[in-house]
Amino acid sequence: MASGNGSNFEAVVLACRNGQLAAEVALLVVNNPGCGAAGRAGRLGIPCQLHDHRSFSGRGALDQALIASFRAARVELVVMAGWMRIVTPTLIAAFPERLVNIHPSLLPSFRGLDGVGQALAAGVRLAGCTAHLVSEEVDAGRILAQAAVPVLEGDDHAGLSARIQVQEHRILPLAVELAARRLGLL
Ligand code: GAR
Repeated sequence: MASGNGSNFEAVVLACRNGQLAAEVALLVVNNPGCGAAGRAGRLGIPCQLHDHRSFSGRGALDQALIASFRAARVELVVMAGWMRIVTPTLIAAFPERLVNIHPSLLPSFRGLDGVGQALAAGVRLAGCTAHLVSEEVDAGRILAQAAVPVLEGDDHAGLSARIQVQEHRILPLAVELAARRLGLL
């Protein structure tokens, strides 16, 4: 699941293709037409479906469509790789312990929108990213993997985000593997 640029989606695909992750990415679902993630799926040869949230009556209806797509593609584990919508208990219940999210902060600090901006505003010297299982409370599920990234003197949002993303691309495939192992899928 992706909403934007799709660099984390691509990192998971590449981890599968280089043998780091014994898995296959069966499907990408995006909610924004023409987003970078959809372009990457095209280049990588991964099937991509658009479920534009604007064409659904609400969060529940969108999540029902997602569940139908995942079931049709025989998906065993779902990754929210920059999915910028809040998911409902319906989706979480359909994939119990099988829904992994990547968030750009060292949780439990700086949940919700713009984890990088929140870290800069708070003046912390250590930022980072967290891959975790999704629970009903936003950004509060069981932590699978984290990486710390120092905030440098004069860092701006773009610079810090870029360094955090390098670490996201490293820990997200690792977290997928850990989640799959917990479930006995690997
Ligand atoms: C990532 O940095 C991810 O942590 C963040 O969106 C970015 C997506 O980048 N996710 C959230 O903020 C979720 N609350 P990408 O599209 O290049 O993978």
